[in-house]
Amino acid sequence: MGSGQTVAVFGAYGHTGRFVVAELVERGFVPVLSGRDAAKLKALAYETGLEARVASVDAPDSLDRALAGAAAVINCAGPFASTTAPVIEAALRAKIPYLDVAAEIEANIDTFAHFADRAREAAAVIVPAMAFFGGLGDLLATAAMGDWTQADEAHIAYGLSSWHPTAGTRLSGAVSRERRGERRMRFTNGQWDYRTDAPPTLEWRFPEPMGSRSVIGEFTMADVVTVPSHLAIPDVTTYMTVEAVRDIASPDTPVPSAADESGRSDQTFLIDAVVRSGGAERRAVAHGQDIYAVTAPLVVEALDRVLTGRTRTVGVAAAGEIFDAPDFLRALSPHITLELLP
Ligand SMILES: NC(=O)c1ccc[n+]([C@@H]2O[C@H](COP(=O)([O-])OP(=O)(O)OC[C@H]3O[C@@H](n4cnc5c(N)ncnc54)[C@H](OP(=O)(O)O)[C@@H]3O)[C@@H](O)[C@H]2O)c1
Repeated sequence: MGSGQTVAVFGAYGHTGRFVVAELVERGFVPVLSGRDAAKLKALAYETGLEARVASVDAPDSLDRALAGAAAVINCAGPFASTTAPVIEAALRAKIPYLDVAAEIEANIDTFAHFADRAREAAAVIVPAMAFFGGLGDLLATAAMGDWTQADEAHIAYGLSSWHPTAGTRLSGAVSRERRGERRMRFTNGQWDYRTDAPPTLEWRFPEPMGSRSVIGEFTMADVVTVPSHLAIPDVTTYMTVEAVRDIASPDTPVPSAADESGRSDQTFLIDAVVRSGGAERRAVAHGQDIYAVTAPLVVEALDRVLTGRTRTVGVAAAGEIFDAPDFLRALSPHITLELLP
């Protein structure tokens, strides 16, 4: 695994970037640390013994230098409204794959809209939202589909024990809200619907032992972009436990704190992905710990598969489209416990 290939990580010194850097090292890759702040980069380079290259999204030549000689780039720098396009352009110039962990719906939509044709023509690989939100839910929904070629509905319910957001999460949320003019979005009848009313609160029956919990419905996350980008499902809805919504809505909720030596917090998650077709229902469930930390094995597993040609398409592609979803999910053990239920 890894075979010593160099991988540029943009946003390397962020909370998620650090988990990604550690996972790359763990799997035998050589991360090149990149980001805009020379002092923060230098500190991380000192701590890890890795090479650091300062780069700014406003200076394409600095991004070219950051990506020089790298086999791929992983973008962990959000808000992605500012970073996605410049880093993708640099990856296209360098002719290397690009993966990001963006959970900003508008940025994810832009990546498909602006780069799909160029990436396909160049046989380039661009994987947006290759993370907890947008990646894992999409892999689960795809695995749940099994041999179905279409479904009527997909529902992805997030059972988070709590959600202590990073500064990047708060900033990205604010940018998203501003971009959509304080409206909320849902995906229904095969299209985006913008609404100003309050989202519904309802009960969701998670698999035991979590059981029935209050959730906010139409709490739209990146999976609502990734799932319909490749699956014929006209209604895709995501749900979030009310405790987690309260946490991220409160300005007083602290940032995540380490509960073990790997830096993971004690937050636990359960994702319940359900697809329905006619009267039938199929389900895939994942459990794990810390949505930021688990993003690292997700994106590094994706990177490994891209670099070893274990992919199904080129262009801009969501996780469930470009990878063999059940095989990918099984490879995530022990980071994720998986149940596939007929
Ligand atoms: N999809 C998912 O499930 C998932 C999972 C984890 C993270 N994320 C997303 O990933 C992003 C980072 O999260 P985080 O937890 O790592 O937050 P964080 O600890 O606050 O780190 C944010 C990082 O982005 C960098 N950054 C921000 N704007 C930049 C710009 N214009 N140019 C260069 N670098 C910039 C920051 O650098 P400075 O310190 O120099 O500002 C920092 O390195 C957020 O958007 C978050 O929503 C998504």
